[in-house]
Amino acid sequence: MRNVTKENITEVVTKALSNDIPPRNREVMTSLIRHMHDFCKEVNLTFAEWLSACEFLRRAGDISNEKRNEFILISDILGVEVLVDMLDHRITEGESESTVLGPFYRENPPVLPKGASVIQKNFENSETVKVSGRITDTAGNPIEGVAIDIWEDAPNGLYDLQDPEQPAYNLRGRFTTDENGEYAFIALRPIPYPIPYDGAGGELLKYMGHHPWRPGHIHFMISRIGYQSLISQIYDADTKYLDNDSVFAVKESLIGKFNRAPAGSETDLVLSFDFKLKKASAKTLIAAE
Ligand code: BEZ
Ligand code: FE
Repeated sequence: MRNVTKENITEVVTKALSNDIPPRNREVMTSLIRHMHDFCKEVNLTFAEWLSACEFLRRAGDISNEKRNEFILISDILGVEVLVDMLDHRITEGESESTVLGPFYRENPPVLPKGASVIQKNFENSETVKVSGRITDTAGNPIEGVAIDIWEDAPNGLYDLQDPEQPAYNLRGRFTTDENGEYAFIALRPIPYPIPYDGAGGELLKYMGHHPWRPGHIHFMISRIGYQSLISQIYDADTKYLDNDSVFAVKESLIGKFNRAPAGSETDLVLSFDFKLKKASAKTLIAAE
């Protein structure tokens, strides 16, 4: 094609897709090309803006490594991770809502018994909380043997991965539900923290005029063979930023009340929160075999 114009460029590029690619590649690329071209036309993108966007992506790549994926952060700031999560995990049977994974999950956290503490380092002015609840199926039957990974930021607003002063796996643990579907652990009251804004993600926040703060939350990854895994978070009902989370991940159903613990309790606060899991589809079960 030698006569590429503003009018035919989208057709020219989509027609260049090979006939040999899988149908899903064709669907994704046709739509992506069309939306990108329409976007450029709609905002009359200048050459300087295109170049600075390319440089922005290069800087995002430069700052990314095994522990930091700036592209996940950028997608969070644009509301893309939460959107994809809602598209891919549609609520069909009253199961608990999911929300974003975020960039701070670590595989293989310490395996701990029910009721154990994930606190490896003390911080001044922090409050301890006993978190407990039940994991059931959508009919309310308790599920035994559910693996629950939890992780949260420390009272300095940093995850262990971001902070060389914290022991590895501080404020992380893997718990298992008992025969009543119950879990429990001791943690610190999570505080609001800014998502990393010292890289390309921060540049994007500035361009958008948005702040980096997230409300206080505890992350959960809940899994059991035979059930759909759940990646979610519990938000503190009294935290700031519930209504203006920098990554748009708060859901009303995930807000929990941190209550004062009765006198003589082992923690300052208690939080009770149940989750409901949906049975895995036959397709998921076969894939897991
Ligand atoms: C988090 O909650 O850990 C998180 C989520 C999205 C972006 C950054 C952090
Ligand atoms: Fe987080």
